[in-house]
Amino acid sequence: VVDNQDLRDEIKALLKEKDAVLVAHYYTEDAIQELAEETGGVIADSLEMARFGAEHPAKTLVVAGVKFMGETSKILSPEKTVLMPTLEATCSLDIGCPEEEFSKFCDEHPDRTVVVYANTSAAVKARADWVVTSAIALDVVQHLSDQGEKIIWAPDQHLGRYVQSQTGADVLLWDGACIVHEEFKAKGIHDLKAIYPDAAVLVHPESPESVVEIADVVGSTSQLLKASKELSNQTFIVATDRGIFYKMKQASPEKRFVEAPTAGSGATCRSCAHCPWMALNSLELLRDALRDGTGEIFVDEQVRVKGLIPLQRMLDFKK
Ligand code: 13P
Ligand code: SF4
Repeated sequence: VVDNQDLRDEIKALLKEKDAVLVAHYYTEDAIQELAEETGGVIADSLEMARFGAEHPAKTLVVAGVKFMGETSKILSPEKTVLMPTLEATCSLDIGCPEEEFSKFCDEHPDRTVVVYANTSAAVKARADWVVTSAIALDVVQHLSDQGEKIIWAPDQHLGRYVQSQTGADVLLWDGACIVHEEFKAKGIHDLKAIYPDAAVLVHPESPESVVEIADVVGSTSQLLKASKELSNQTFIVATDRGIFYKMKQASPEKRFVEAPTAGSGATCRSCAHCPWMALNSLELLRDALRDGTGEIFVDEQVRVKGLIPLQRMLDFKK
């Protein structure tokens, strides 16, 4: 997909000039993912984004995704400049878990270990014992449960319920949800299966329980991409943001990828299989961030130091 060659060339030159590397999530537009690939950056899930940014020697990280991803990078690498194409790109899970309310909730249950999903503000991370992403949530919660720990899980109730069902852990759930994944409907997927009986169903665990139940594979964006390469099925019904199709199709051009149906369409659909905040990232804004230093991420130092502890725990958990 060649959008605008001049713009792409300008960004490539700026990346070199500023000693910067592009860290892009799978849900960003194809042109951004392509640039990350071409310039030695990475296209990744939120766990790999965090690792890559922390380990890369560049002075500047340009994080294309949503705000919590930029904040995570800054917490891990305070010495680096972290830029984002836009600071408006938030996440319904982050919005649905304000720090004060969450902190009160934790205070009411002092006997529980606080595990928060990476899709939260730096301040919420600072209140947690553990941060996890969908790629590592099961392993961490299983480990805690095996040690007899009772858990507070926030903010995504669907992922929390999935983790609870898979690990048998004693989990107290916050009631947040992702506005993209909660729209996927089991009925629509069943109907599609009638059309493509051999299709494998790939589901991100932020989806509702009824959708997770009919999945062949449940996992983070990277884990779903891996499954799409490794399974021998020729067709895949995919219940996650359609941005992932760029890498799925690139890896397996001979396979068919079908978007899982959502509740509504057109005006009735708030976010049919595409995150409205991820969609705010654009090549123009990426260029502006690099050229003008707009979209810089700052995290209060006290919050950063506290947030680093549960984040580092996650990165050290499984190398
Ligand atoms: P991943 O960690 O699987 O990339 O998920 C991040 C996210 O925001 C999914 O909606
Ligand atoms: Fe948040 Fe959902 Fe968008 Fe992921 S897809 S960033 S969980 S709103």
